Amino acid sequence: MKLLFRIALIAIVSMTMTGLFASANGEKTEATGAQKLSVGIILPTKDEPRWLQDEVRFRDALEKAGYSVEILFSQGDSARERANVEALIAKGVKVLIMTPHDGAAAAAAADEANRAGVKVISYDRLITNTESVDFYVTFDSFAVGKAFGEYLVKQAKGTGNNLYLYAGAASDNNAFIFFDGAWSALQPKIADGTFVIQNSSEAIALMNKAKLSRAELGKIIGQVTTNWDFNVAKNLAEANLTVANKDAKGEVFIAAPNDGTARAIADAFAADGDVTKYYITGQDAEKASVQYIIDGKQSMTVLKDVRILVADAIKAAVMYLEGKTPTATGSYANGAKEVPAIQTEVITVTQDNVKSVIVDSGYYSASDFTGL
Ligand code: BGC
Repeated sequence: MKLLFRIALIAIVSMTMTGLFASANGEKTEATGAQKLSVGIILPTKDEPRWLQDEVRFRDALEKAGYSVEILFSQGDSARERANVEALIAKGVKVLIMTPHDGAAAAAAADEANRAGVKVISYDRLITNTESVDFYVTFDSFAVGKAFGEYLVKQAKGTGNNLYLYAGAASDNNAFIFFDGAWSALQPKIADGTFVIQNSSEAIALMNKAKLSRAELGKIIGQVTTNWDFNVAKNLAEANLTVANKDAKGEVFIAAPNDGTARAIADAFAADGDVTKYYITGQDAEKASVQYIIDGKQSMTVLKDVRILVADAIKAAVMYLEGKTPTATGSYANGAKEVPAIQTEVITVTQDNVKSVIVDSGYYSASDFTGL
C-alpha cells in the first residue's frame, strides 16, 4: 500500500443552512427547510460505537447544512450491503458514500453503482480491486498504528518485556495499514530484545524484518485477528493467556487494534491473576474507552476526529453533484487503480491529555464521563 501523502490541512465544510435531515433503515425524520441531497450513505454496522459516531456526525453536519440524505447500515453482511447499494441506486442517488464491510467483496456493489452512473466515495475503509471507486476520504491509518507502537515503546523499560499483538479483520484493508504502522515502531524494539512476542509464532518468525509484505502481514493478522469483534477478541486473549506461562505475564504490553477490542482484551488480561500490570492501545475515542482511560483500564486511544471525515465526504459529494472533481492530496492503490484521496491526521490520547483533547475541545461533553 503506497501512501503518497504530505500532511493535509483539512478545511471543514462550513454550511449554514438550517433544517433537517433524515433517515436510517427507512425511518425518516423530516423538518422544515431540508433539501434532498442526491447522496446515499452506507455504514458497515450499528454494533460498534465507532460507526454510530459517524452516523451522529453525518446527521449533525447534514442538519446544519439543511440536507436530507439516507443512511443505511450493512450489519457486517456484504449481501445486505449490496442490497443497500441497489436500494439507493433505485432511489436515484448520484453519489454514494460507503464504508465497506469487506473491502474486496464490496467491489461488485461499487461496480453496479458505477454502471448506474453513481460516483462512489470510499469512506474510511477502501473498496479494493475495482476501478469503480472515485474518491477516498480517510484518516492516516499508518499513523494510527504507529501511535500504538510508539506508545508501547515509550512505556517499556529494559529488555524482555512481554508483548501481545492483536489485529483487525483481514477483510478490512485498514487492518493491514494499522498493523504495518504498529510494526514500524515495534519491530526495532522486538529485534533488540526490548519486547518478546508472546502470542504469534508468525510475528516471531518475521521479527528481524523491518518492512513486511502484504502477504507477511496477512500471516500475522491471520494468527492474531479479532475480526473487529469483541467476543472474538475476548476469546483470543483468554486463549493466549491460557497457554502463556507465568513468565509471559506479570507486566504486559498489548497492541490492540481498536477501542472495542481493546476493552474486551483489557478485561481478559485484568481478570488474570498473574498479570500484574498491562499497557494497552486502542483507537476511535469511543466514549466507553475514554471512560476506561480515565479509570486507568485502557492506556491510550487514537482520536480520529470523525467530524473532519464527515465534512470531507460531504464536500466531495457536493462537488460531484456540481459536476466538479474533489481535490485530492494523495492517493491509495486499491489493487486496480490509484484512488485519489484526502487524508486526515490523528491524535494520541492518554490519561494526561484526555480532558483537553476530548472534553475541553468540545468533542464530547464532560457529562458523558465520571471521574474526569
Ligand atoms: C476503522 C476503525 C474501526 C474498525 C472496526 C476500521 O476500518 O478505521 O476506526 O475501529 O474498522 O470497525
